[in-house]
Amino acid sequence: MTRGATQAIGVDIGGTGIKAGIVDLDQGKLSSDRIRVSTPEGAEPKAVLAAVREVLDTLGVGDSDMALGVAFPAIVKGGRTLSAANVSKKWIDFEAEKFFEDGLGRDIHFVNDADAAGIAEVRHGAAEGQAGLTILTTLGTGIGSAMIYDGVLIPNSELGHVQRAKHGGDAESYAAYSAMEREKLSWGDWTERLQWYYSYIEFLFSPDLFVVGGGVSKHPEKFLPLLKLRTPIVPAVHRNSSGIIGAASLAADGPPAVVAAS
Ligand code: BGC
Repeated sequence: MTRGATQAIGVDIGGTGIKAGIVDLDQGKLSSDRIRVSTPEGAEPKAVLAAVREVLDTLGVGDSDMALGVAFPAIVKGGRTLSAANVSKKWIDFEAEKFFEDGLGRDIHFVNDADAAGIAEVRHGAAEGQAGLTILTTLGTGIGSAMIYDGVLIPNSELGHVQRAKHGGDAESYAAYSAMEREKLSWGDWTERLQWYYSYIEFLFSPDLFVVGGGVSKHPEKFLPLLKLRTPIVPAVHRNSSGIIGAASLAADGPPAVVAAS
């Protein structure tokens, strides 16, 4: 199908916005405008599908046969979404890929949003050529994570849901960018929360590199220099477009080759 293609389409579904673009696969960057619509209230499957159709039509690729990758904020295994932290609970244990394929009348590839961002940064960005363990986190409505070892993705790591031992609750409800907005925190106060989070993840995994993505990676100077870690921490090169680029890139890979056991 699409192996050897030079362009593919990426869609990144988030808790607040749905973004899409056409990706130049050799350059690993957008070759079109980046289209955005707000995520429909409640983020139920039918409404999200309609919004994705709208962004594809706006991009002029509603009928295109380019590979299409969709990044989604949930655990995604074999095309099924298995969790739903910031979207409707209808996505839990849902045949998401099939639902979108039926709804759009084409093949698609469904993937976790942070994993997609990690792939973009490894193939064409901040973690290109990085040896050992890279942990990319996206700081947005939630905290997403991608773990990549020597360039190979270990999917569905969900490090936004590590628990706060003393206070209880998810790391993401305490330290995501949405917590800063919701609680009107100063950059300094939010950075203290990030300090707890990244120190804890550093203790658990001893990574070689942290990459920080999500919309807030547009302002790395406001918080990254304040963090005291042993591990280098850098902003995502593709910022908020990493999810689009990675989803497109994975879709263009086509299905993984099956390796027979010997
Ligand atoms: C979800 C993850 C997702 C992250 C960022 C979390 O709440 O559980 O799957 O990657 O948000 O969107």
